Amino acid sequence: MIYLDNAASTPVHEKVIDEMIPYFREQYGNPSSIHKYGRLARIAIQDARKRIASLINADEAEILLTSGGTESNNTAFYGITHQSKGKHIITSSIEHDAILEPCKRLEAEGFQITYLPVDRHGLVNHEDVEKEISSDTCFISIMFANNEVGTIQPIKEIGEIANEKKVTFHTDAVQAIGKIPIDVKELKVDLLSMSSHKINGPKGVGALYIKKDVKIDPLILGGGQENGLRSGTENVANIVGFGKACQLAKDNMSQNQEYVGKLGRKLVFEILKEIPHTTLNGHPEKRIPNNIHFTFLGVNGEDLIIKLDENGIAASTGSACSVRVQKASHVLKAMGFSHEQITGSLRLTVGISNTEKEIDETVQILKKVVTELRAVSPYKEKYNF
Ligand SMILES: Cc1ncc(COP(=O)(O)O)c(C=O)c1O
Repeated sequence: MIYLDNAASTPVHEKVIDEMIPYFREQYGNPSSIHKYGRLARIAIQDARKRIASLINADEAEILLTSGGTESNNTAFYGITHQSKGKHIITSSIEHDAILEPCKRLEAEGFQITYLPVDRHGLVNHEDVEKEISSDTCFISIMFANNEVGTIQPIKEIGEIANEKKVTFHTDAVQAIGKIPIDVKELKVDLLSMSSHKINGPKGVGALYIKKDVKIDPLILGGGQENGLRSGTENVANIVGFGKACQLAKDNMSQNQEYVGKLGRKLVFEILKEIPHTTLNGHPEKRIPNNIHFTFLGVNGEDLIIKLDENGIAASTGSACSVRVQKASHVLKAMGFSHEQITGSLRLTVGISNTEKEIDETVQILKKVVTELRAVSPYKEKYNF
């Protein structure tokens, strides 16, 4: 199989697995215990926290460990809005469901939500953020990089505006961390969501960066772990793995960026050359290096995924995190795509484990599969396939 669904999840790095294993076999203590086992587990968590903080230039005390991106997003939303006086939230129309669903619930609880539009490339205009802020605005949440089309949002500009207007600013950076340099201080973000399994770490662990002076209400109550902000015995092995994944991502950032970017550019170049009636979606420059999103006119994306799977390629139409419900992409809709363009979309996300040979094979298989599907397409006449 050729795995090109790295935005959905990534293989766990061997070095990450090696660091995790002792925490299953020998160092299985509860970090809250006073004895040596407990102390070792506690130290391991603190070391991991330092590595996680270092990836985004935060202080370790600003890192809240969670079960992943979804919990981090939910904690940010409820943690801020439960204690705020204002009842207005600004977000974008292309967020992940882990933002849109909390928004829906808050709407039902009486909050007013502004969903900012995006342009054809999936880009939010930071001036729109400024225009929408009112005295009632308590929270802004704009994703760092989109999980479907990879567009990177103007986070620094939005951070400036939010900071000036004194509105708490959160960004869901699940698809961006480890792929592009992120400095929370420079970007002036108050809260930032991270997930481990998108950067060659284990699933079910992540973090929420919470700027020092920002106060949030806990979502999970109990034994008071994580300074009372997230109760429950810590998932030590996973946290250690996430820490190692962050350290590897930081140390190898520029070489990974270059490698993955090179594979991605090759894939784009070859596919646009070999397969007619194909467009590359998302922003031409402001995009994370691993994301490639195409529309193949006259092809049904679901059929394409199935055929590719039969031919040994794992790809996706968009978000894998919204379970297996097939609904038209809200991201592509917001970008103004027609039903036909949405239907024919395919996301290929490259990772550090992919090879140039795999890219060559993918181009040939994709060409064959698209040609086969177009031969039986209802749009055959329209496009003269
Ligand atoms: C942008 C974005 N936010 C949040 C999530 C959810 O993260 P997790 O799977 O760690 O809960 C994902 C997962 O794909 C994502 O892409």
